[in-house]
Amino acid sequence: MYYDKLIFDLSTEGRKGYTLPKAEVKRYDLPKSTYLRDDCPGLPEVSELEVVRHYTNVSFKNFGIEKGFYPLGSCTMKYNPKINQDMANLPAFASLHPYQPIDTVQGVLKVYHDTQTWLSEISGLDTFTLNPYAGAHGELIGLMIIKAYHRDRGDSKRTKIIVPDSAHGTNPASATVAGLESVEVKSNPDGTVNLADLKAVLGDDIAGIMLTNPNTVGIFEKDILEIARLVHEAGGLLYYDGANLNPLLGVARPGDMGFDIMHINLHKTFSTPHGGGGPGSGPVGVTKALKPYLPKPVVEKQGDQYVIIDEPKTTLGQISHFYGNIGVVLKAYTYILSMGREHLPEIAKYSTLNANYIKESLKDVYQLPIEGICKHEFVFDGLKDKSTGVTTLDVAKRLLDFDVHPPTIFFPLVFKQTIMIEPPETESKQTIDHFISIMRQVALEASQEPDKVKGAPYNTVVKRLDEALAARKPIVKYKDLETN
Ligand SMILES: Cc1ncc(COP(=O)(O)O)c(C=O)c1O
Repeated sequence: MYYDKLIFDLSTEGRKGYTLPKAEVKRYDLPKSTYLRDDCPGLPEVSELEVVRHYTNVSFKNFGIEKGFYPLGSCTMKYNPKINQDMANLPAFASLHPYQPIDTVQGVLKVYHDTQTWLSEISGLDTFTLNPYAGAHGELIGLMIIKAYHRDRGDSKRTKIIVPDSAHGTNPASATVAGLESVEVKSNPDGTVNLADLKAVLGDDIAGIMLTNPNTVGIFEKDILEIARLVHEAGGLLYYDGANLNPLLGVARPGDMGFDIMHINLHKTFSTPHGGGGPGSGPVGVTKALKPYLPKPVVEKQGDQYVIIDEPKTTLGQISHFYGNIGVVLKAYTYILSMGREHLPEIAKYSTLNANYIKESLKDVYQLPIEGICKHEFVFDGLKDKSTGVTTLDVAKRLLDFDVHPPTIFFPLVFKQTIMIEPPETESKQTIDHFISIMRQVALEASQEPDKVKGAPYNTVVKRLDEALAARKPIVKYKDLETN
């Protein structure tokens, strides 16, 4: 038994004048341990066509942004233009080796350096590391930097971090992993931070505050400058959870609001693929004072050369393999370049317009707990007509029958029946009008045939599940699904 290997002649002779390399085929014996044994299960005898049909059908059963509208609040599920992927696939990038000598990877280091610089310009922070793998990873790195900063100033009493009750679950979770205790502050009825509650917890044990602005109900913190002043005066730092940066792009900058440190979700705002736990990228930006703590390696430009800096000694050290998810950075780089300075603010404008349009079009049938202009997302507190017993979960399930991915539900926890809707700028008016008509149809059904909505979905492969049982005993094999 052999395998064939193409051996390319890359001798100087072969490369001269860029002629095509000569190829020859060598045959090698495979090790005996790799031979098919008699007791191995038989492989199914299927043709290529059958395999292609099988996987195509399976993929149709899946839901993704390329199949339909995905109004998932807090997650910015925007379309990822194909050119992003094309750029990341270019052989010159895709076949790079992490141990290549620096002078042979100047191109990708330029991409890194430019992306760091542009993210600084967009956010108003001094410098960025592109190494973290996700938003939550960025949070953890950010909090470790905050801890190291206080420690080096001999301020080791600061072991608590303030997290508003509307925060994403990763915020308190990251705090715990970083060894900080989270202190909850209450939100006002409009979802903004309650200043009295904030003042009550500020003290010399506070390391800082984590804020999402606009917050998870889509409201901009109008008191952000006052919050920054109060936290800084108490000796704390401000961490900006950048998952909701979309409506601020090119319009407002966290650095100008007083934030010291932040993460950006490239896989949300900057249109790189999202979901399934990765691959993502959560660059962390900091002010000058925090720059020495950034994880290594750091890419810098010296003269006309790009170099990788392993210093200074205060760095957190290596937090990802090599340079993080380069493919994701390349996609974000392409996206920023294709938008350009003049079109980035349109992302903010149209996502905000879309959210307000849906909110105003549906507030006569869904309960709107926060009136007024929202940013890129907003929340309903379930259906307006509460007499039918139809819940937010029922509405979400019924939407599946109309081939619409349900919005985020029951988050944030500040309302009982939260439906959080985020229509990104990439959706057309037709798609948004279609979504509005479906939401209205579900509301009508809820009042006329409530049991129908309570029993949904009907058109999906899997019907209404026992949620608790499904979470405890998930069936993840297709075959088991058929027999259950
Ligand atoms: C407000 C907010 N913060 C943080 C995160 C965490 O980001 P990631 O999923 O990349 O870890 C999310 C993700 O949904 C989010 O919505």
